[in-house]
Amino acid sequence: MDRHVLDATAVRAAPLDAQIERLLACPRCRSPLSVQATEIECTSPTCGFGGLVAQDVAVMDDRSKISFFDDKHEVMQRGNEGEGVRCLCYDRQEELLAGYFRPGSVIVDVGCGPALPYQRTPDPFIIGVEPSFDSIRANTGVDLRVYGTALALPLPDRSVDTVVCLYSIHHMVGATRRANLSLVQGALREFGRVVKPGGEVLVFEIEPWAPFWLAEKMAWNSARNVLGRKLDMHFWSADVLDRLMHAVWPHARLRRQNFNAPWLSTFPPVFSMPWLKWPRFLYPFSPVLLDWQL
Ligand SMILES: C[S@@+](CC[C@H](N)C(=O)[O-])C[C@H]1O[C@@H](n2cnc3c(N)ncnc32)[C@H](O)[C@@H]1O
Ligand SMILES: [Zn+2]
Repeated sequence: MDRHVLDATAVRAAPLDAQIERLLACPRCRSPLSVQATEIECTSPTCGFGGLVAQDVAVMDDRSKISFFDDKHEVMQRGNEGEGVRCLCYDRQEELLAGYFRPGSVIVDVGCGPALPYQRTPDPFIIGVEPSFDSIRANTGVDLRVYGTALALPLPDRSVDTVVCLYSIHHMVGATRRANLSLVQGALREFGRVVKPGGEVLVFEIEPWAPFWLAEKMAWNSARNVLGRKLDMHFWSADVLDRLMHAVWPHARLRRQNFNAPWLSTFPPVFSMPWLKWPRFLYPFSPVLLDWQL
């Protein structure tokens, strides 16, 4: 696929099975897919992957892996609407994103959640990939809803113009910091694989201030032992993310940008507790955009 050539209006008007066959690929072996009624099948004779179409969602991962976010997505939506959160994490970011909504471009929003936190235009075709079935089913902002994971994107190599990932990387956690590192690197490997040459990977994250980063480094494994899956976040410095990206895509060129909000603005530091409001100066994180050109 070349850059900026998709007729987004025509593809949006096509039936879901045609969209799946045109834009997606097997998450295991990347072969083309074939859709018959509600069955999605990998066309490779040796692969055996099967997905399904359920409630207008292309289910491209094992649905039995119910995500933590399934019972949190409404809270998350309300939390995102809070004024402080918008100001710190979304307002300026939304303006930047608008520059990538080029006619005919294909964008994949990885970890898109239940609603797009940015205004979009009809110009691009947006594929949303989400591992929470309830969230992706609820998302009416994307053009194609895909139940899947960043770690095995059901997309062909070099098929999208822009990868967008807003505040999802810090939720990719396993049992140890080492496991977290390898999950995040796996996601970055996938982002670099699916983006077209000359395209961009836009990762919006929350970067911890140095004292928090050091404390997290020392205490995360023990905290996870105690809290188990309740501890579902691990924050990364932009430098570590860039090192991980470079290890898999050495030619990726980073431009980074930090964001801020007035020090006295307040917002809930834990999105699942929207009633808890903190002033910005007590929140030891800064939103950052890592924009890699590939
Ligand atoms: C804080 S929410 C952000 C949602 C949305 N991007 C936004 O900014 O409003 C984090 C999202 O990351 C998703 N997520 C967690 N693990 C993921 C993975 N392995 N692949 C893709 N998305 C993931 C969650 O399901 C959740 O929807
Ligand atoms: Zn396959």
